[in-house]
Amino acid sequence: MSTEIELRDLASEIAKEAGELARRRRAEGVHLAATKSSIADIVTEADREVEALIRDRLREARPGDGFLGEESEPTSGETGITWVVDPIDGTVNYAYGSPMYAVSIAAVQGSADPDSWEPLAGAVYSPAAGELFTAARGQGARLGEQRLSVNESTPAGALLGTGFGYDPATHDGDLATTRSVMTMARDLRRSGSAALDLSYVAAGRLDGYFERGLKPWDFAAGALLVVEAGGRVSRIDVATPRPMLISGGTAVHDRICDIIGKET
Ligand code: IPD
Ligand code: CA
Repeated sequence: MSTEIELRDLASEIAKEAGELARRRRAEGVHLAATKSSIADIVTEADREVEALIRDRLREARPGDGFLGEESEPTSGETGITWVVDPIDGTVNYAYGSPMYAVSIAAVQGSADPDSWEPLAGAVYSPAAGELFTAARGQGARLGEQRLSVNESTPAGALLGTGFGYDPATHDGDLATTRSVMTMARDLRRSGSAALDLSYVAAGRLDGYFERGLKPWDFAAGALLVVEAGGRVSRIDVATPRPMLISGGTAVHDRICDIIGKET
């Protein structure tokens, strides 16, 4: 079995166990642990507990690997492989009782920098839907056993997803970008989980997705899913505090890049 497939299978197994823990904790009632970058940017006790479970499982299975997670201190490893983890992507949805949240786990090679690492494997698990999206480099993307491919044809305009930053000072700029991209859209979705948005692009449930200011753990697994489903992912403005991620089938991806490139 290739390393990529072993990493994918490990990510999948842990994502399912972690997602079931998140789902149980959700049923018991959500407890806010803290706010982070702004009052809208929250962390629940479940985010921390789920990340600790993922970290423990990875340490048991692959003690030499590095770790970069949303809720704990990063560690570098000796194997050249780093796990990039969002224990609950869509925390605000989770806190509100909405099903659009997911566990996202990726294994990357190289430094813990998304602009230089090489993604090897990823899993995004949606506990509420019981859906597991997985990918391994060179091996395609899957939903369960089913092979995924992005949409290439959008005759009625593209069904697009996006998201907005937690900092209210960023809303005007993000809305202006969205307004310009709407010229190519049939409609727009804002799910509240970047990991699911990217999984949905891979599955052809969205034609494209763009968002400024994502963190590495928001998109590490999802970006590999899109590429392995035959789509494209770009990051632009990487030297700014809020780089833009653009994804979709080739035509949709290129059109969004074109519109946003002209706008900035
Ligand atoms: C957030 C979600 C949201 C996106 C934000 C992310 P979190 O992650 O992915 O959809 O718009 O940019 O920070 O805080 O729920 O883990
Ligand atoms: Ca996230």
